[in-house]
Amino acid sequence: MHAANRQAWDEAAERYEGWFAEAVALISSGGSNLFPVEEQLIGDLHGRCRRAIHLQCAGGRDTLSLWNLGADEVIGLDFSPRMLDLARRLTAAVGAPATWIEADVLETPHALDGTADLLYTGRGSLMWVQDIDRWAAVIARLLSPTGRFVLFEGHPAEWLFDVAEDGRWIATDYDYFAGPEASKGWEPGYIDHLSLADDDQSTKFARAWTLGEVVTALLQAGVRLERLTEHNVDWWSGHGDALPEERGRIPLSFSIVGRAPGRPAD
Ligand SMILES: C[S@@+](CC[C@H](N)C(=O)[O-])C[C@H]1O[C@@H](n2cnc3c(N)ncnc32)[C@H](O)[C@@H]1O
Repeated sequence: MHAANRQAWDEAAERYEGWFAEAVALISSGGSNLFPVEEQLIGDLHGRCRRAIHLQCAGGRDTLSLWNLGADEVIGLDFSPRMLDLARRLTAAVGAPATWIEADVLETPHALDGTADLLYTGRGSLMWVQDIDRWAAVIARLLSPTGRFVLFEGHPAEWLFDVAEDGRWIATDYDYFAGPEASKGWEPGYIDHLSLADDDQSTKFARAWTLGEVVTALLQAGVRLERLTEHNVDWWSGHGDALPEERGRIPLSFSIVGRAPGRPAD
């Protein structure tokens, strides 16, 4: 499933390539592509973050946002070579101290163990990973002794709701407990249409990990959880046609802040 997803994401990199000029302008002007809620969780990194690691970094725009927030050095990891080419071009354009690693997140190189002062991931990452326990073990081993883990992700409940023609929420037929779903093609509000027809694209496998599965995996890996928060932030603009009075009624995203195993919270 990861091999298929890698192929699908390499195809989807076409959409990110279209955002290149915008990304250069944003990063070179000192801006950030992160949501305000993410910036609040991450905080000002100046003088307190030698290394930020971003897992599943795509084209590097969010990774380099961490540099603009004050990280001395950023490392982005992704399994799509085409995404990383884009990240390298972006780095060259803005002159950032960044390193890009091509690997499956479950096989993050051990050379990075214990080095992340900030370990950040999310915004459509976890749903592609098919082994949550192995993923949590990676989180635990990458954190430096005083490192912080920040995740901001789509809420699994989001999969249960869609917007009807009248702008109100209706239930989808998604089975919350079913596991991975195979699909071809992308949502219009997200990646949209690619030059490759939907039928010719790679099949991809995504799943909504439940909050219980995510939290339990992190706890069992030894990550010291500080907070789990549910948000009504529409993280991928997938529900733009919901009525204003329907907005804010259901959780669309969640965040987790944690610490390295065995260290007391501040
Ligand atoms: C939605 S993007 C990540 C969020 C990013 N902030 C964005 O919106 O651009 C998902 C990324 O995860 C990567 N990815 C998916 N599964 C992966 C895996 N098992 N190992 C490494 N990267 C993976 C994809 O290549 C893609 O770049």
